[in-house]
Amino acid sequence: MNRSTADIRHAFLDFFASRGHQKVSSSSLVPGNDATLLFTNAGMNQFKDVFLGSETRSYNKAVSSQRCVRAGGKHNDLENVGYTARHHTFFEMLGNFSFGDYFKADAIQFAWTFLTEELGLPKEKLLVTVYHEDDEAYDIWANTVGIPEDKIIRISTSDNFWSMGDTGPCGPCSEIFYDHGEHIWGGPPGSPEEDGDRFIEIWNLVFMQYNRQSNGDMLPLPKPSIDTGMGLERISAILQNVHSNYEIDIFVNLIDAAAKVTGATDKNDKSLRVIADHIRSCSFLICDGVLPSNEGRGYVLRRIIRRAVRHGNKLGATGVFFFRLVEALEAQMGEAYPELAANRELIEKVLKTEEEQFSRTLERGLSILNEALAELTSNTVPGELVFRLYDTYGFPADLTNDIAREKDLKIDEDGFQAAMAEQRKRAQQASQFDTDYNEQLKSDTVSEFTGYDLVSNSANVVELFKSGQLVEQLNPGDEGVVILDQTPFYAESGGQVGDSGVLKTASGNFIVKDTVKLNNAIAHKGIAENSIHVGEVVEAQFDLDSRNAIKLNHSATHLMHEALKRVLGAHVNQKGSLVTAERLRFDFSHFEAVTHEELQQVEKLVNEQIRANHSLETKLMNLDDAKAAGAMALFGEKYDEDVRVVSMGAFSMELCGGTHVNQTGDIGLFKIVSESGIASGVRRIEAVTAERALEVTQSQGQQLVDIANLVKSEPSAITNRIQQLLEQSKATEKELDKLKQQLASNAGADLLSQVYEVKGIKVLSANLKDVEPKVLRTMVDDFKNQLGSVIVVLGIAQEGKVSLITGVTKDLVSKVKAGELVNYVAQQVGGKGGGRPDMAQAGGSQPENLNAALGSVKLWLDSKL
Ligand code: ALA
Repeated sequence: MNRSTADIRHAFLDFFASRGHQKVSSSSLVPGNDATLLFTNAGMNQFKDVFLGSETRSYNKAVSSQRCVRAGGKHNDLENVGYTARHHTFFEMLGNFSFGDYFKADAIQFAWTFLTEELGLPKEKLLVTVYHEDDEAYDIWANTVGIPEDKIIRISTSDNFWSMGDTGPCGPCSEIFYDHGEHIWGGPPGSPEEDGDRFIEIWNLVFMQYNRQSNGDMLPLPKPSIDTGMGLERISAILQNVHSNYEIDIFVNLIDAAAKVTGATDKNDKSLRVIADHIRSCSFLICDGVLPSNEGRGYVLRRIIRRAVRHGNKLGATGVFFFRLVEALEAQMGEAYPELAANRELIEKVLKTEEEQFSRTLERGLSILNEALAELTSNTVPGELVFRLYDTYGFPADLTNDIAREKDLKIDEDGFQAAMAEQRKRAQQASQFDTDYNEQLKSDTVSEFTGYDLVSNSANVVELFKSGQLVEQLNPGDEGVVILDQTPFYAESGGQVGDSGVLKTASGNFIVKDTVKLNNAIAHKGIAENSIHVGEVVEAQFDLDSRNAIKLNHSATHLMHEALKRVLGAHVNQKGSLVTAERLRFDFSHFEAVTHEELQQVEKLVNEQIRANHSLETKLMNLDDAKAAGAMALFGEKYDEDVRVVSMGAFSMELCGGTHVNQTGDIGLFKIVSESGIASGVRRIEAVTAERALEVTQSQGQQLVDIANLVKSEPSAITNRIQQLLEQSKATEKELDKLKQQLASNAGADLLSQVYEVKGIKVLSANLKDVEPKVLRTMVDDFKNQLGSVIVVLGIAQEGKVSLITGVTKDLVSKVKAGELVNYVAQQVGGKGGGRPDMAQAGGSQPENLNAALGSVKLWLDSKL
């Protein structure tokens, strides 16, 4: 039987292709435009809208091998990886699909033929389940396929009713199980021992019939359809005669590689399985544009990387190792997924950076945790400790959990959750205003936005809010919120700040400081100079200067986004944006600092596009058409079916609701003012345009002129001039050093006259003035040379500190050690020191005692010699 995993993948795709199914490539692990889903977790995800009937394709039968991640959201296996024979964060799902073409009978027959004829599995090893009410499926298995009735099991739980998520397509299903044999513990599905490893589910046939609504209602799908999923790793295990997925070819090779890079010797260590599993999910996630971060998908990726690093650490890996496995993964899966090779450099870089950062956290966290665990008196780890490790040291709770589990300890989950809830409360209190604003104001008004074309229009006051309450009127001096039926004011969104301006009433003005969205209403926040009441007509007029400046920065943001992609690579994706009248700020994914040259290239590209003076085009398009045309959309952002597409020449095309220039030439000039990192893998660029860009450029020019004046030069010659000054100053310093040495040796000559003798041995002890501590060593050497046999003690008192040095010529070290001597003196000036027997140094803090201390040397030596 033994067939390679790659071979089985091929066989599956070919089997269904030869039965009229379109081969469709795996979609990205980041689901396109589906906010209900964290990661692609099943083959059917990319066909969700086809099942729902809102999208049609040129085919009505499909087959795919889909990469899936189940490590967060509804289907989450992260915690089980390494502990069972068949759980993975990443796996491949083989699936065949029918969109209103065939239904139960064919789906069942196809599956049976593939397993028993194409793959040659023995029929008696297979058993199946059906949903308890599904007599039709039961009948097909029993009478058409001919499976004995004791091998068809009716299941009433959600195990046999599959849903993609809390909402979306779903239906009853029928699962096919393989019996790995009596020697393995476990019972058939539905029995008390079903969780054992003997009977393993290999294929799930879902009979898609409903669309589950958020309120739980099940609406019938337009056409009954088929969605199936077979785990490639599981079926490979069977065909390779092994029991655990981790023993199939791909994993054996990855585990070998993991053992090599970590230095582990026991190939059965579960940490190796964890690492082999995690390198697959991490590499493919990065390949699909996810980068480690502190929220959403990026956070899940970060957790998986950290879990892998921790297991490597347990195996004794020294230094970073995880990124080294990308090569082995490419060898195993690169042929089926060419995107791995294309993104290898990026994947390795991201993993390496994250691993380096985490290694530091890990070391600190582990030592704190181990200390705390050693003092534990029960078998429960306090929730407060888990929280403190997480909150103060960035040590993820699931790692603590993992470690506790290895030591047979439990986590006080309730205590941890309570500490987390406290934390959330504190965070909420810190941002009270926003919470109040969003929670208290509710409006059903739909305001029409007229501000793409108009600067002002007259409008009716529909609603007024004061202190979070609906009111009929705002009085002079009141702060409040005004909602109109139509308004040219742009409400903050897509990074562009809200407009400011004025609402002119019959009696005076309402000054608008900011504009935000409230569901479908546009809310003007500000202060009433005169009274304003519901029902009155106002003239709404935004601040044109401010809006014009905002426009320039918004259009420049689009140009820069595209330029960054061209200069740095396609992995650049918007992570945040702020467009104000003064500047633009843009956060994006990139794993290292953008170099000065790259920034210059970006500036150059953007300014080229400004000078090309493209007319700006906006078009309302169907979302799919817009994407097909290449419009940039944001990851995970949910768009309406009809979207506004903003293009500038052939250079930039982006989905955007914001306000923009008429011609790119209006931007005038674009200048980057800063680049920095704000989180791992996220960079921030700030830039300015037009007048402000000119100001920045001019002030930089002015600075250069000022510097040139200071060094008596011209801006054009300034680099040479500064170079010259630096060289001059270096030469001066050298000269100065020489002079100082000379001064010291002159001083030395004077000192020679102070030499005295103790028991026939020459001694020199002196308090030096006007000498720098750094020449002391040279002085001691000079004295030793000149006098041949001598004991020297020199001290300097300077700025409240004492520097001491002692020297003893070789012939005397058996009698007196320089270290002892210096220590003896140092103790008397509030310090201590030491060194070699022939030369030692010390410091002290009591200059006032230096003379007395040096004076005591004579007596001390007298007792020693
Ligand atoms: N979508 C089904 C599953 O994931 C086939 O099990």
